[in-house]
Amino acid sequence: MNIYSTVRVNVGEGYDVTIGQGIVDGCGGILASLLATRRVAVVTDSNVQPLYLGRVRASLEAAGFAVTSFAFEAGEQSKNISTFGSILEFFARSGLTRKDCAIALGGGVVGDMTGFAAGCYMRGIDYIQMPTTMLAAIDSSVGGKTGIDLDAGKNLAGLFIQPKAVLCDTDCLATLPAEVYADGLAEAVKTAILGDAELFAMFEDGTACANPQAVIDRCVRYKASVVEQDEKESGLRKLLNLGHTPAHAIEKLSGYTIPHGRAVAMGLGIMARASAARGNCTAQCAARIEAALKNCALPAGTAYSAEEMSVIAENDKKRTAAGVSVVLIRDIGDCFFEEVSLEDMSGLFADGME
Ligand code: GLY
Repeated sequence: MNIYSTVRVNVGEGYDVTIGQGIVDGCGGILASLLATRRVAVVTDSNVQPLYLGRVRASLEAAGFAVTSFAFEAGEQSKNISTFGSILEFFARSGLTRKDCAIALGGGVVGDMTGFAAGCYMRGIDYIQMPTTMLAAIDSSVGGKTGIDLDAGKNLAGLFIQPKAVLCDTDCLATLPAEVYADGLAEAVKTAILGDAELFAMFEDGTACANPQAVIDRCVRYKASVVEQDEKESGLRKLLNLGHTPAHAIEKLSGYTIPHGRAVAMGLGIMARASAARGNCTAQCAARIEAALKNCALPAGTAYSAEEMSVIAENDKKRTAAGVSVVLIRDIGDCFFEEVSLEDMSGLFADGME
């Protein structure tokens, strides 16, 4: 018998994040007891399709579901208006009605685009997140942020729409290439810096990397507590963007060849050093963060210049007339956000250079 852990996210109607082994083969039974419909449309990508789609489909069909599926080319370059349109057309071809349900089977790109399409199709149908990467499991599948990239930048079109459930099979993580697994850990290190000193200690002593279920469980619990207080990022949720202003700039400067998690790791290193340089935290705190990143085989800095990054950050969607809201660090478990003027952005990043 499989033992799953469950984290409740009390936003909107509320939903469970179910975490454990064997969920790919057990998803049909879980969803049969949750959903009224017996028609589902699964969206996945070219990496995940050969690994898990057949097993997910078999489990769903055994539980009585009629299943259609669609796979797009894996990668951030697919997260665009064209693929989004193809997903909507797939829903229509599948004959989905307002009462039916979409399933996102894959990493962050699959989850973000499927959620956005589900939120738009017939003005909104239910969707399930089935994350298969560490990054999706601990961050993007929870909290209802969905969207696509535009030429002008990442995630510039999207919706806040919460999933009906998140089903996270930790066995999927075993098939991830080492660098993709490490990529996801960057968001976990971010969570630990924001609000989980015990998790941070697990990154310092090296026990976190071998214990994905505990890491996912702790990260999801922290994220749930934040989005329950601030679903639409009017305040507290901005903290989850720690490291993300430089990270988004790095991703864009690299033409999206640097994956999100690696860019977040670089952004965390930059913001840790900048916080220390500005007297917000100690140099020792910044050094601990750099060491924790390195323990996960993640970088803590970038070769892009502060000037190059600040030009991109000026177009960040979190920008206001006054500047860009960035998250700074006082200590492990104690972060705050501050408006940084566009003039000061380059100086802030320069303070964070290695
Ligand atoms: N990934 C940040 C958030 O969900 O707010």
